[in-house]
Amino acid sequence: MIPLAITGLSIRRRSDRRMLIEDLDCTVHPGEIVGLVGQSGSGKSLTALAATGMLPAALEQVAGRIAVTGTPIDGLGPKALRDLRRRRISLIFQDPMTALSPTRSIGAQMGDILAAAGIPRADRPARACRLLGDMDLPDPAALMRRFAHQLSGGQRQRVLIAMAFAGSPAVVLADEVTTALDVSVRAQVLRLLVGRARQSGSGLLFITHDLGAARSCCDRVLVMAEGRVVESGPAVEVFARPASPEARHLLAALPERSAPRQMLPVAGAEP
Ligand SMILES: Nc1ncnc2c1ncn2[C@@H]1O[C@H](COP(=O)(O)OP(=O)(O)OP(=O)(O)O)[C@@H](O)[C@H]1O
Ligand SMILES: [Mg+2]
Repeated sequence: MIPLAITGLSIRRRSDRRMLIEDLDCTVHPGEIVGLVGQSGSGKSLTALAATGMLPAALEQVAGRIAVTGTPIDGLGPKALRDLRRRRISLIFQDPMTALSPTRSIGAQMGDILAAAGIPRADRPARACRLLGDMDLPDPAALMRRFAHQLSGGQRQRVLIAMAFAGSPAVVLADEVTTALDVSVRAQVLRLLVGRARQSGSGLLFITHDLGAARSCCDRVLVMAEGRVVESGPAVEVFARPASPEARHLLAALPERSAPRQMLPVAGAEP
C-alpha cells in the first residue's frame, strides 16, 4: 500500500482563479524519505495541506487525486479526515508553539494521540515515556507534567516529532521543522527526525529550504517552482546534476556542492 500518492493535483485561488499548484505528482513509498524543495511561495506547504485535507477555504482543488494508504481523501467528511490524520498521515509544522496546546500538559496531549491510536489507557504513560525518550528527551516522566511554554524550541519540536510518529502513521509530512530552531540544535533535531522515520518504516515527506539537509538525508527529491514539480529523481543525482534551469538556480545557493556529509543517517542505510 502506497502511504501517499498525489497525482495531477491542481489548486487555484477562488478569488482571482490564479493557479497555485499545477499538475503535481508526488508519491511517498513506505520507509522512503522524499525531499520537497523550492523557493518561497512555490507551493510546498500547500501540497502538504492538501495531502492532509486541510486546504484553506480560500483555495480550491480543481484537478487531481490524493490517496493516503490507498484511500482517496477527496469526498471524506471532517470526521473521516480527522481519523485519517490521527492514524495514517501526520503533519509537523514549522512552529511547534502553535501546534501544541498551551493549556494542557505534554502528557495529556500524548495521551490523546495514543488513545486515538487505540493504545489501552493503562499502557499510555509508559508508551509516551518511551516515545519521548526515543527523541533524546531526558526525564520523560517529568516532561509529561510540563506545558509547552516551559520547554525550549528544540524540546517542543522533538515532542511534536514524537507525537507525529506516536500513532504509527504510514506517512509523516514535516514542513520546515528545523527552520525556526537555533542553528546549534538543528542538526540534532534533523538527525532524530530522520532516525525516527528510518526506524519506523513510515514514509517521510521532508519539506525544507535547507538543501544541505535534503541532500544528506533524502532518498528522492522533488524540486518545485511556481506550483509545478520541475525536477524529480534520486537525491544524489538531482544534487549532482540538476537538469532544469530552476533546479540549477536553486542549487546554486548551496555554499559548496561537495560539503562533507553531516552526522546523519545516510539515505538508504539501515537504521
Ligand atoms: N490561504 C491562502 N490564500 C491565498 N493564497 C495562498 C494561501 N496560502 C498560500 N497561498 C499562496 O499559494 C502560493 C504557495 O504557497 P505555499 O505556502 O505553498 O508556499 P511555500 O513553497 O510553502 O513557501 P515557503 O517556502 O515560503 O513556506 C503562494 O503564492 C501563496 O501566496
Ligand atoms: Mg511553506
